[in-house]
Amino acid sequence: MNAAPEGHKRARFYQLSLEERLAVIAEATGLSREELAALSGEAGLTADQADHMIENVVGYHALPLGVAQNFVVNGREVLVPMAIEEPSVVAGASFMAKLARAGGGFTAHTTPPEMIGQMQILDLDDAPLARLKLLEQKEKLLAEVAELDPMLKKLGGGPRDLEVRLIADSPVGTFLAAHLIYDVRDAMGANAVNTAVEYLAPRVEAITGGRVLLRILSNLADRRLARARCTVPLAVLAFDDFSAEEVRDGIIEAWAFAVADPYRAATHNKGIMNGVDAVVLVTGNDWRAVEAGAHAYAARSGRYTSLSTWGADREGNLVGTLEMPMAVGMVGGATRVHPTARAALKLMGVKNAQELAEIIVSVGLAQNLAALRALATEGIQRGHMSLHARQVAIAAGAEGEQVERLAEQLVAEKTVRIDRAEAILQEWKSKS
Ligand code: MEV
Repeated sequence: MNAAPEGHKRARFYQLSLEERLAVIAEATGLSREELAALSGEAGLTADQADHMIENVVGYHALPLGVAQNFVVNGREVLVPMAIEEPSVVAGASFMAKLARAGGGFTAHTTPPEMIGQMQILDLDDAPLARLKLLEQKEKLLAEVAELDPMLKKLGGGPRDLEVRLIADSPVGTFLAAHLIYDVRDAMGANAVNTAVEYLAPRVEAITGGRVLLRILSNLADRRLARARCTVPLAVLAFDDFSAEEVRDGIIEAWAFAVADPYRAATHNKGIMNGVDAVVLVTGNDWRAVEAGAHAYAARSGRYTSLSTWGADREGNLVGTLEMPMAVGMVGGATRVHPTARAALKLMGVKNAQELAEIIVSVGLAQNLAALRALATEGIQRGHMSLHARQVAIAAGAEGEQVERLAEQLVAEKTVRIDRAEAILQEWKSKS
């Protein structure tokens, strides 16, 4: 059972203590004591497990783990775990999910989980001829690859196609790039794909008479896309002195800046990745792969641009879409080993990698909306500062209730600096 906390609790989740938040999650999701401990940091990855994951281990590095509220993805309530050091991200996602919820939440889907494995074929006498020879053997090669991983075959995955591209005018002349299209089901897929292209390389050399140098997956996973859309009712956009139309049109104008200008697009897409990476990371997935795929996809037209779109429908509501590669898995690697990653997947109640990708792309869209709404109205600093002030207060040595009080004073004074925070703490100390 995976339901979000009830309405009144959901709205006040951020005001609860850490223990109370965990209790709300336990009640809503039925997570076990061990799983809750893995989320809270009480348990989680052990040094021994870490030692088996990478080399030269001396410990592990912790990040704050928050749970975004209000998300409805494809009609299902979902609590979204996010691991991130930046203030405002979890709050922004939760608030925008609430606005989107008023319009039915997020509708998301994915294309099949097809990854691309590349082989670079050099030293060819006649590259176009070698290309055809390889394509003539396609069915035979795919049939061989299909037997490499019986488990994947059983699950309905396996090779789907072999494409051969001619790369002319490279610094080392003309060569071929063969692409093995491989359905990796619920895996991220790097291992399966790399195994398959390494297996194919000698066969490809025999067929083409060339030399296969690189055999590696491409992170431009443009066959494995995740798409999300949302409609935010016009009425919920107004706040403070800003009319709903002003907010909507400001968001669309802000988006247009990212469409037209790579300098702005990089920051715009970074805002999307604030949400995407936080969920990719907490589920033990490879966020560098997702980052690389996102930015390469944003540049696919030859000019780097926005990954999202924003516009208005006939009724004047704000409509947003996001499409990006999403190479995330639920089996293998850290996703399987890391107790927090397992608990995070359980918290979301996802059954397969495609459902996970659908949630992640929805969070990316929510995060983009949060940034554009703030930027197009009051600016980013107001919201950012109060959260940043808490970090400064903690860094200055504030404890317990002092943290909130000190943060409020720093914001009120418009001086969110550690030296001032230390001075205030000193004043309080001398008075007590
Ligand atoms: C900050 O982490 C992200 C933003 O810069 C994104 C944006 O500008 O759209 C606020």
